[in-house]
Amino acid sequence: MTKNIAITGNDIVKCKKLLENDELIGFPTETVYGLAGNALSVNAVAKIFEAKNRPTFDPLICHTFDINSIKNYVIDIPQVAYDLLEKFSPGPLTVLLPKKSNIPDLVTSGLENVAFRIPNHPLALELLQQLSFPVAAPSANPFGYISPTSALHVQKQLGYKIKYILDGGKCEIGLESTIIGFSNEKAHIYRLGGISVEEIEKITGKLEIHQSTSKPAAPGMLESHYAPRKQIYLGNIEQLTGKYKESNFGILSFSKKYRPQNNWVLSPSQNESEAAKNLFGYLRDLDEADCDIILAELIPEHGLGRAVNDRLLRASAK
Ligand code: TXA
Ligand code: MG
Repeated sequence: MTKNIAITGNDIVKCKKLLENDELIGFPTETVYGLAGNALSVNAVAKIFEAKNRPTFDPLICHTFDINSIKNYVIDIPQVAYDLLEKFSPGPLTVLLPKKSNIPDLVTSGLENVAFRIPNHPLALELLQQLSFPVAAPSANPFGYISPTSALHVQKQLGYKIKYILDGGKCEIGLESTIIGFSNEKAHIYRLGGISVEEIEKITGKLEIHQSTSKPAAPGMLESHYAPRKQIYLGNIEQLTGKYKESNFGILSFSKKYRPQNNWVLSPSQNESEAAKNLFGYLRDLDEADCDIILAELIPEHGLGRAVNDRLLRASAK
């Protein structure tokens, strides 16, 4: 039996028609690829949860093309949220804002706030501008697995469940958006992501980071998330290679190559943003490589390094 595969291309008109008919598409953004459907249609949103095998307690992010259009779906935008949107949109910033009733409860899992962002990707923006509704789009991976950073990643895992993948090339950032919520005009980080804490604090001042794990405010913060199928062991690579010398291991390192074979190097030039861009693709490569376990090291906690380490820690928690 052959599985159906999605058509991959850059036909915006076709994507528009599919979305208007409550169908799902693979959707490129600068962070990771999304699995997109009409956010105002309960039917389309239900299909997203089903295709991803995602529990309905895990709410979805809505995508649109400018700040004004967000105003149609939220009751209020606090000043600090506005300042952040002005500075970082389009870009890898998601804000949690009190929703109007036109956003279905299924999108927010019954929460009062809805997550919105304006992706910084030319094809995504072109499509969003032509739609009369925002698009709900979680990362286009089966629940709990690594987020996709290319059209091929989407094809491999969800291609048989969707008709079309809008191919926008390799994602520029490679990590999901930074999620920020507000209480009493103060900003809080709910998920570390594509904009570094340092950058955000330039606008907000010192931030609180809510990194709960067992009962998450944002389920993307679940401890075991973004995980490959193989077990990852995190630590000092020299020590780990000694400890697991009897095993067939692969290595994910920051800048140094420890072995000629089966060693993926995130950034030979020691750049945390480059490491972020390569992280999910290399985890997938290691998952498919000829090895049984993955040995990995944390990277410097600078710029996007903090978000990269957050994903590595979650990927290694089983
Ligand atoms: O970069 C991104 O944000 C990508 C691209 C496709 O835009 N999307 C993404 O979506 O990462 P997803 O569904 O994989 O992760 C969204 C996270 C989830 O952990 C969800 O719990 C949280 O956002 N979230 C969504 N709505 C929320 C809300 N109303 N309150 C709290 N957390 C929310
Ligand atoms: Mg996700």
